Amino acid sequence: KRFDTLIKNGLIITAADRYTADIGIRDGRIVALGQEPGEADETIDADGLWVMPGGIDAHCHLDQPLGDGAVMADDFDTGTRSAACGGTTTVIPFAAQFKGQSLRAAVADYHQRSEGKAWVDYAFHMIVTDPTEKVLKEELPALIEEGYSSFKIYLTYDDLKLNDREVLNVLALARREGGMVMVHAENADCIAYLTELLEEQGKTAPYFHAEAHSSIAEREATHRAISLAELIDVPVLIVHVSGPEAIEQIRWAQGRGLRVYGETCPQYLMLTADDLDQPGFDGAMCVCSPPPRDPAAQEAVWQALETGVFQVFSSDHAPFRYDDPKGKKLNGESASFTHIPNGIPGLETRLSILFSEGVIKERIDATRFVALTATNPAKIYGLYPRKGTIAIGSDADITLWDPRARSTVRNQDLHHAVDYTPYEGLELIGRPVLTLCRGTVVSRDGAPAGSPGYGQFLECERPQPARPRGMSKGF
Ligand code: URP
Ligand code: ZN
Ligand code: ZN
Ligand code: ZN
Repeated sequence: KRFDTLIKNGLIITAADRYTADIGIRDGRIVALGQEPGEADETIDADGLWVMPGGIDAHCHLDQPLGDGAVMADDFDTGTRSAACGGTTTVIPFAAQFKGQSLRAAVADYHQRSEGKAWVDYAFHMIVTDPTEKVLKEELPALIEEGYSSFKIYLTYDDLKLNDREVLNVLALARREGGMVMVHAENADCIAYLTELLEEQGKTAPYFHAEAHSSIAEREATHRAISLAELIDVPVLIVHVSGPEAIEQIRWAQGRGLRVYGETCPQYLMLTADDLDQPGFDGAMCVCSPPPRDPAAQEAVWQALETGVFQVFSSDHAPFRYDDPKGKKLNGESASFTHIPNGIPGLETRLSILFSEGVIKERIDATRFVALTATNPAKIYGLYPRKGTIAIGSDADITLWDPRARSTVRNQDLHHAVDYTPYEGLELIGRPVLTLCRGTVVSRDGAPAGSPGYGQFLECERPQPARPRGMSKGF
C-alpha cells in the first residue's frame, strides 16, 4: 500500500492557498498532495469539507499551580482532550517558574504534570519570574537550546512581575540566545492605584476588575515593552491584546519597522466589560486580565486581525470552575474582585468562534484564519514547517471542517473540566468534524476519539521571527 490514510477531494486551505486535492499520509506525515489513486488502509471522503491544518493554541494554561490556593480545573488530560475536540492538534501551555525556583525545576515539574496525559502534541513556553544570574547565564541558554525557545514575562501581578531593569536583562538574553519573548503588558502600579481607589469606595464587585485594569494601564505597559525591546534590538510579542489603545502602540511599532508581534483571543471579540456586570457573583466567570472592554474595542480587535497587526489568535485558556471553593469562589461570593482567580476557558471554542464570526461573516478570509490559528504560531514559536501547514513532509495534523454545520455552544457538550463557558448559547456556523494529529484521529464530530498519552512533547527550534534586525548598538 502507498498510504496509511488518504483524505480525498477536500478543499485544502493553507495560509497561502486553497485548492482541491487528495492528501496521502504515511507514518504520521503528509507524503502526497495531488490526485492520488486509492491504495490506503483508510480512505476519508472530504468532498464538501474544508481541510485545514490542525489548530495550534499557543497560549493556554494547564495544571498551573497558583500561589493563592486556586486550582486549575484542567490538567493535561482534560485540557488537551477539549483542545482536540475543538480541532486543535498542538498546544503550547506554560511551565511557570515561581520566585526562588530554578527554571529547570519548573520545566521538569511540568513534564511530570504532562507525562502520559496529552491527547495532542504539546510544547512549553516558560514563564520567567525570577531572572537571577544563574537563570540568565546558565539555565535559559541551555533550555532554549533544548527546545524551550519562548518565554513569557509579566509587567503586572505582584508574584510574577519584573521591573524594567529585569526586563532589559531578559530581553538582552533573548537577543543573544535567539528566544521569543512574550509580554503580559499591564502597568502594575496603575492597577494597584485604581484598585485602592475602588476598594475605598466599596466598589469590590467583579465588574470593578474591568475598571481597575484600565486600557490606559495596558497601553502604557505595551508601549514600555516595545521601547525596551527596541533599545535592546530584539523582537517581542505582546500577548492577549484587548483593544485599540494597545493596538495603536503595536501598529506604531510595526510601522517603524520594529519586529513587534501581537496576539489576541476570543474573549476580546465576544465579550465586553458588561459581561462582568451580572447579578450576584456571576460576573466572576468573565474576570480575566486584561479584561474585555466595549463594542468599539471589539471592532478595533477585528480590524487588527483583518489588517495583520495581530499574527496570533490564541485562547488564553485559564480554567477555573465557577461554583467551586478552589475556583472563582476561592474567597467566597463577597470577595473583592482582587481575589478572584483570573482567566476564562476557551481551548475548545477558540477555532469555531473565529471560523463562524470571522470567516463565515467574511471579516477575515479562510487563509488568514489558518495563518492566525496555526501557521503563524508555528513560525513564531519554532515549530514550522513540522507543524502549522499542509505540505509534504509536515506532520499530518489536519482538521476537516463542515463550513455549513450549525451548532450552539453548550458547556455540557464541551470536554474541559470547567463548569461553564462564557459563550453559552452562542450560535455558530461551521465546525470541525474530524481531527487528525500525526495521522491519527483524535476527535470526530466534536467528541474525543483519541487517547491520553498519544500526544508527544515537541522541542521548539529558535524561531526565525525572534531574530534581531541586526542594528545592535553593542549589546
Ligand atoms: O486572566 C488571565 N489572562 N489569566 C491567565 C494568565 C495570563 O496572564 O495570561
Ligand atoms: Zn497574561
Ligand atoms: Zn495567559
Ligand atoms: Zn487583598
